[in-house]
Amino acid sequence: MFFIKIRNTFVWNMNFSKEIKGWFARHKRDLPWRTQNDPYQIWLSEIILQQTRVAQGLPYFLKYIEKYPTIKDFANADLDEVLRIWQGLGYYSRARNMHFAAQQIMNEFGGEFPRTYKELIQLKGVGAYTAAAIASIAYDEKVAVVDGNVYRVLSRYFNDATPIDSSEGVKLFQKLANELIEKENPGDHNQALMEIGALVCTPKNPDCENCPLSSSCEGFNKNTFSNLPVKSKKVKVSERYFTFLHFECKGKIWIQKREAKDIWNGLFQLPMIETDQKMNFQDLKKHEIIESNNVKSIEYRTSLVHKLTHQKIFADFYFVELGNFKENNTYQLIDKIDLDNYALPKLIVNYLEVSNC
Ligand code: ADE
Repeated sequence: MFFIKIRNTFVWNMNFSKEIKGWFARHKRDLPWRTQNDPYQIWLSEIILQQTRVAQGLPYFLKYIEKYPTIKDFANADLDEVLRIWQGLGYYSRARNMHFAAQQIMNEFGGEFPRTYKELIQLKGVGAYTAAAIASIAYDEKVAVVDGNVYRVLSRYFNDATPIDSSEGVKLFQKLANELIEKENPGDHNQALMEIGALVCTPKNPDCENCPLSSSCEGFNKNTFSNLPVKSKKVKVSERYFTFLHFECKGKIWIQKREAKDIWNGLFQLPMIETDQKMNFQDLKKHEIIESNNVKSIEYRTSLVHKLTHQKIFADFYFVELGNFKENNTYQLIDKIDLDNYALPKLIVNYLEVSNC
């Protein structure tokens, strides 16, 4: 038992770490990266699980491990293929960063996975959370992880309404997490907190009856847990208008690789026109891309709204039948049946599904 100081108040604490590790030993999910302490597999799983639930992330983990059993295989992989496997998870920069980090490990660390928090955080795409997760789980380093689950558990446990998206909140919850972790099995401690957040202390309807922390949980005792954690900022969302053109002739279509510093960098899409407002059909028919090609017919197909964290995309899709494909430097001409070989944004996958392509 020990005391822990929170904002000048000493709070009595039961043996927090032992309690949650005991619970973890009894209730943890059987997950493939938990069967051995391979830092490569732990890194892969942690990157996939950022903003992805275990059930959704697991098939991706298995695909990557099957395709690239070692960090060397991952470093030598073709980036387009790494992105294609990632398709459906969103946040493609995570996959690009993983590929870059694998090459960093081969080139800067002699092919040996870095062993300490200080070294791990030098890898591209590895922030404080991922470095702490790998260092503690694979190498028993006493460093505390704070992810969305941990924010939820700790803000409720300590009944603390400091916004988790404020610099004060980030510091406070990291400090609390650091004070709670012990040197025995820090990896299990970290995973236990995340697992309690994922399985018991859920955002809605937490299962407090079966929580190993409820007897000393301030949020439970004061019945404040449903209002915690607190977030202060509203995410600013900008609206964009995309008109996609599904050009087709004799089983062939045009696709375009996105290159700019923008969403979906490196992924493939149908040729697209971006406008400040929704483009109407009359304007589309007069557009240079339509006028300069041998267009037989244009047919409106569907409209989809696609929400990203900071952007809301209003997308209209048109089917454009061509008499032939002219030379074009911007687009690639491919067989439609080969589309599966390209990494596509979810929005395009959704369009292909709804239009039965
Ligand atoms: N979420 C992200 N990483 C996790 C882990 N190692 N255990 C449980 N939940 C997680």
